[in-house]
Amino acid sequence: MIYAANFKTNHTRRSTEQYLSVLNERLSEKAPDDQVYIFPPATALGEYAGLFTQGVQNAYPAEKGAYTGEIGLEQLEEFGIRTILIGHSERRIFLHESQEEIARKFAFFRAKGFEIIYCIGEPLEVREAGEEAVRSYLLAEFEGIDLSYEKLIVAYEPIWAIGTGRSAHPEEIAATHAMLRKAVDVPLLYGGSVNPANIAQIVETDNVDGVLVGSASLDPEVFASMILHRA
Ligand code: PGA
Repeated sequence: MIYAANFKTNHTRRSTEQYLSVLNERLSEKAPDDQVYIFPPATALGEYAGLFTQGVQNAYPAEKGAYTGEIGLEQLEEFGIRTILIGHSERRIFLHESQEEIARKFAFFRAKGFEIIYCIGEPLEVREAGEEAVRSYLLAEFEGIDLSYEKLIVAYEPIWAIGTGRSAHPEEIAATHAMLRKAVDVPLLYGGSVNPANIAQIVETDNVDGVLVGSASLDPEVFASMILHRA
């Protein structure tokens, strides 16, 4: 199972260091085949060691250059980062990232051999319009994306479930992941209000290979309890 923590714009360098020392201790109890990813904010990226992989929440598709406010490959290489989140709905919505820009970013980091957690997810009105509407919305978010990339992981995160406390029902997750499985043969994560109360049911759902967790990942004890829930 894959357990990924997306801190978003939370935690500082100092609190990330404290977080990781708590988490690391707990991760000694994890199952050997469980994979843990941590996505801290860019200012808290570091040379961390432990039973987890550090990834970046975003980066600009360039080695380096005149891109004010952005970080590129050179800044990621300083910390040995080889994993990136691309296509998160918060970037699509708040930062107005278009599918074309997202595809360009994907192509750049694919060419550099990064592991890519590629996020897709529909808004509420599309979910309410029914499964066929959801299907075409999600497949459109694959436009320009090389789905045969061997280091691709897809995260299905319905926008209406992110940060709302209202996770998708296991049946909705199962149906959507079954549909996605026909389009992509890669690990499929679910994200959107995953928490200690619903994690067991979600990871047992067919075609769910892991979870991408926001709010509930911010406390290392809570996140660790989610990873170790089977123990
Ligand atoms: P949430 O966020 O767990 O706070 O809903 C998930 C995400 O956006 O990755």
